[in-house]
Amino acid sequence: MTVRIENVGRAVRETEYAVRGPIVNRAQELERQGREIIYCNIGNPQSLGQRPLTWVRQALALAEYPALLESAPGAFPADVAEVAREMLRGTHGHGLGVYTDSKGLHFVRQAVADFIRRRDGVAADPEAIFLTDGASKAAQGVLHLLVSGPRDGVLIPTPQYPLYSATLTLLGAARLPYQLDEGAQWKLTRQELEATLARARAGGITPRAVVVINPGNPTGAVLGEAEVEMVLEVARANDLAVLADEVYQENVYRPGERFVSFASALARRRLDDVSLFSFHSTSKGLLGECGHRGGYVECRNVPPEVMQEFVKLQSVALCANTVGQLVTYLMVTPPRPGGPSHARWEAERREVFQSLARRAELVERGLADVPGIQCNPVAGAMYAFPRITLPPGMSDEAWCLQLLEETGICVVPGTGFGQAPGTWHFRTTILPPVDRLEQVVRRIGEFHRRVGAR
Ligand SMILES: Cc1ncc(COP(=O)(O)O)c(C=O)c1O
Repeated sequence: MTVRIENVGRAVRETEYAVRGPIVNRAQELERQGREIIYCNIGNPQSLGQRPLTWVRQALALAEYPALLESAPGAFPADVAEVAREMLRGTHGHGLGVYTDSKGLHFVRQAVADFIRRRDGVAADPEAIFLTDGASKAAQGVLHLLVSGPRDGVLIPTPQYPLYSATLTLLGAARLPYQLDEGAQWKLTRQELEATLARARAGGITPRAVVVINPGNPTGAVLGEAEVEMVLEVARANDLAVLADEVYQENVYRPGERFVSFASALARRRLDDVSLFSFHSTSKGLLGECGHRGGYVECRNVPPEVMQEFVKLQSVALCANTVGQLVTYLMVTPPRPGGPSHARWEAERREVFQSLARRAELVERGLADVPGIQCNPVAGAMYAFPRITLPPGMSDEAWCLQLLEETGICVVPGTGFGQAPGTWHFRTTILPPVDRLEQVVRRIGEFHRRVGAR
């Protein structure tokens, strides 16, 4: 028997993931026909030319093939050989071809705990850190842990990265969207969180958790300390766990803005009765190692019996891939100052950061001048989410499709991320190289002048 579509799980059929949806399929079709496509639909930096950091790749090469340490001594800098040996020792000499603990390799979790302590000035427990195949798996795992049916709900931002809406649909739980204030640079307000909670309860839903993405995808907004603390206070008052998606913590470009972690705010406010799950990833920041699928979740204020359940859940898939675990180690363990790799590591990171900052500004400025397009500052992350004014009868999906057909530029309609009723948006990454991005911004402007409304 062949599998029939009506036999596919309903939750799967109902799940949507716009970042790789129908517009991208059409782009691939056009590409097969010989059209040149500029993919601005997904935050996949190396696919658009960002170079991997040498430190990471050299150390990985040695860890994957340790024979090089003997057969080619001197081919790699001494500190790279040292970190590779350290990593191999951390696998108990087994190398990368073995399963690890369900939580991940202990020495990597210890290094992540040290990184958090350096970043936030607060203690972190390696036993409360789980290494995962990217932050996606971490977020999915935590949502799995926290909801158990259609009466359980999770607050998610609008607009949001569709991992959260998709996972909640798959789990059959309620999505509780709270609107970010576009008119105030995508500000997150207490009033909106409380109104969302009240609506959920009136509908018989029990809110279990709140998701915050900081810096924001797709908004590019960076939360201030007061906003982070406000979320924690609302969570405490309403018995919610907090899911802090902090994968863009290194991607803050705007002078005057800085990343404030939820873990640091939790410690500062001494909120030991709010459960916090913080996610980080090797995919973003200045590494852009999306394909290596490295990431982690750090849990705070989670009771031991709940942690045990989480370990059990993670153990169903045995463990995260070992290469991703090592990339996570290298992300949080930079070369030591004075060592042979340090200057190069610093220079490569600076180059990536400056280029991203320049591209963020280029998109923001370039689109600001176009009548019928309003673009908030791209303060962080890797995206712009401009608002577009459309003629009656045209949707953002139709606009994105026509843009693709006419210009070869592939962006994602705002519908895929959620948007206030009556408003239209699109999301573009800032990732193409500067000369291509200039073309992207110019062509979008020309296109919208023709088809948009004022
Ligand atoms: C906000 C956010 N969280 C999580 C992810 C997924 O990251 P990973 O590659 O670590 O699974 C992304 C990817 O774009 C993202 O934008």
